[in-house]
Amino acid sequence: MNNIHRRHLLAAGSLAALSAATGKALASPRREPGDDHRGPVSVASGNGVKAVERAWELMNQGRDTAEAIVEGVRIVEEDPNDMSVGYGGLPNERGVVQLDSSVMHGPTHKAGCVACIEDIKTPASVALEVLRRTDHVMLVGQGAKEFAVALGFKEENLLTDRARRAWLRWKANHGPNDDWLNPEQMDWEFNQEGHGTHTAMATPETSPIPFTTGTIHCSALNDKGELSGCTTTSGLSYKIPGRVGDSPIIGAGMYADNEIGSAGATGRGEAVIQCCGSFLAVQFMDQGMSPTEACTAVLKRIADRTKQKRLLNEKGEPNFQVTMYAMRKDGAYGSACMRPGGTFAVCNGEGPRRVNSVPLFG
Ligand code: GLY
Repeated sequence: MNNIHRRHLLAAGSLAALSAATGKALASPRREPGDDHRGPVSVASGNGVKAVERAWELMNQGRDTAEAIVEGVRIVEEDPNDMSVGYGGLPNERGVVQLDSSVMHGPTHKAGCVACIEDIKTPASVALEVLRRTDHVMLVGQGAKEFAVALGFKEENLLTDRARRAWLRWKANHGPNDDWLNPEQMDWEFNQEGHGTHTAMATPETSPIPFTTGTIHCSALNDKGELSGCTTTSGLSYKIPGRVGDSPIIGAGMYADNEIGSAGATGRGEAVIQCCGSFLAVQFMDQGMSPTEACTAVLKRIADRTKQKRLLNEKGEPNFQVTMYAMRKDGAYGSACMRPGGTFAVCNGEGPRRVNSVPLFG
């Protein structure tokens, strides 16, 4: 009996406890999509369909799992239309894009991270270089940027016009008593290019101001049983400069243990940090939970530890989203979200696809 199957048999107690705690009947602990699969598997957050496909292709060509996922998420980091990651990500409250990322390599159990890095489009690639070339785990701010530039990464303005316009709208709607006029108070409105156009009275934009704690997480397993994880993000939109979320913190936004599995998180980073969400998901899998059960148990822990009224709805449930993703060493994978709407992407021999995550609360 291998370790994974022994752990499944030992898991009955903890699963019963989880079932009692969540008030929901849990599916059999032994089966989960992918657990009878042979060959590479990659799993990501819902915005990572292209990332899992790329990672899967590269693993099939024999590339290392960490390199494969970093190449995969790079597609999203470089995509100006994803406002939660890399180039085109929403900026901090001063209009500066600050990016966070982490990579963990299962076979060597090494990690590399960067936080609050500016002007570099692909922070996951920088994090992989921290892992590869240094004896450190995390570089932040100016030091992370200098490290990247020294390695030949190009310095670029990451603030796209679309993200800049969203930031200006956020400032204008901040409050009625600050010095930035609300849309209905303006004599000018912004045209498509963002320059002032004189009008009798500005027409307020009615679409919601983009706001995100979105991120991309990707985990992968190759046919040798090696796994790695990576998370990369522009973090909470309009954040206080210097704010670091869960994504670059090993054990919070991502964790990989080659003996057990890999996990990652997207959504409200503060909640994930305070429960060491990804480390906990991997530990729950080690106790025998399936990936989906492990993700659900982490969300339950976060919900139980959320005490501030401003973060709870009228039923006492967290009013924010966190989505957890997990992959076990045998290729089983799963995902759960705090509130409905979370999705994840997966690619194995059946091709890339997006799947709904299991919500903890309805
Ligand atoms: N989970 C992304 C962040 O909170 O920064």
